[in-house]
Amino acid sequence: MQHSKASELFAKLPKAELHLHIEGSFEPKLMFEIAQRNQIELPYKSVEEIRAAYEFNSLQDFLDIYYAGMSVLQHTQDYYDLTMAYLKKSHADNVKHVEIFFDPQGHTERGVPFETVITGIHSALEDGQAKFGISFKLIMSYLRHLSEEDAFKTWEEAQHHLSIIDGIGLDSSEVGHPPSKFKNVFAEAKAKGLKLVAHAGEEGPPEYVYEALDILEIDRVDHGNRSLEDTDLVQRLVHEQKTLTVCPLSNLKLCVVSDMKDHPLRKMLEMGLAATINSDDPSYFGGYMNANFNAVDKALDLTLEETVLLARNSVTGSFAELDRQKELLQEIEAISAPYLHNV
Ligand code: ADE
Ligand code: ZN
Repeated sequence: MQHSKASELFAKLPKAELHLHIEGSFEPKLMFEIAQRNQIELPYKSVEEIRAAYEFNSLQDFLDIYYAGMSVLQHTQDYYDLTMAYLKKSHADNVKHVEIFFDPQGHTERGVPFETVITGIHSALEDGQAKFGISFKLIMSYLRHLSEEDAFKTWEEAQHHLSIIDGIGLDSSEVGHPPSKFKNVFAEAKAKGLKLVAHAGEEGPPEYVYEALDILEIDRVDHGNRSLEDTDLVQRLVHEQKTLTVCPLSNLKLCVVSDMKDHPLRKMLEMGLAATINSDDPSYFGGYMNANFNAVDKALDLTLEETVLLARNSVTGSFAELDRQKELLQEIEAISAPYLHNV
């Protein structure tokens, strides 16, 4: 729901989504449909019952339900449908470029072949590009509660598909699983020229953000909220203009912030951090890109300048080719000009 000039402008602006777990976009209705066609019984009787279960006190609370939800996905068509549904929502929000995480280990450990997962997701991304003009990158994420040896097994399976994998990520239970645990497997990906990102500073301490920067040599920080506890770290992130992929509704639902009025997004922008807005797991947290913006705007009353900066940051922080970035930035300038100059 729009309630301000800023929300109206943000909805019109082209933007990039840089932090989205495709399995976290699994809407209950589609979950039921796929469960039914795969003859799997869900522990819920209705969409309402599923939604009622989406009350979380921590990241782990959420992850337990997230892994249970994705377990109905089995066939290429399931992954295709999941991804296409996300692209339709993104198209409605004027998202023009997406960088999607997928968790192969959440599927291969249940016996679904790696190829089934990536083929379904990638063919939907190709069709989405043709149909909606949404460009894309694909980021394979390792589950950090599993071992580095497990990550290496996934890395081996990915070798046949490196032409369609653009980056490597790190997600799942953060505390107790520092980035340094994945030093060697990230080094392999870097050597092959892949982009690197990692969830850090969502629940974990600033030290984890340092490790992600220094040991994994990441290109972007996913979340990064707890970086604000360390002024030297903030200075460094500003100096290096490292993009932070911030996820407001996720932060609220997973109790990273207790109230949206306390969300640090404005503070981040004021300090010069390259913050962006993203939806993380929109089906579980209550909304896609524009809903995330609207929730922060409602709480913090974002200015039009902040609105445009967020859209610009999403493009410049993306791994899109420079020509594509330039095209999107020009569109942002053209659409925002009448708002900024009060015409
Ligand atoms: N997997 C899906 N969403 C996640 C999040 N917000 N943090 C860590 N792992 C995740
Ligand atoms: Zn995430």
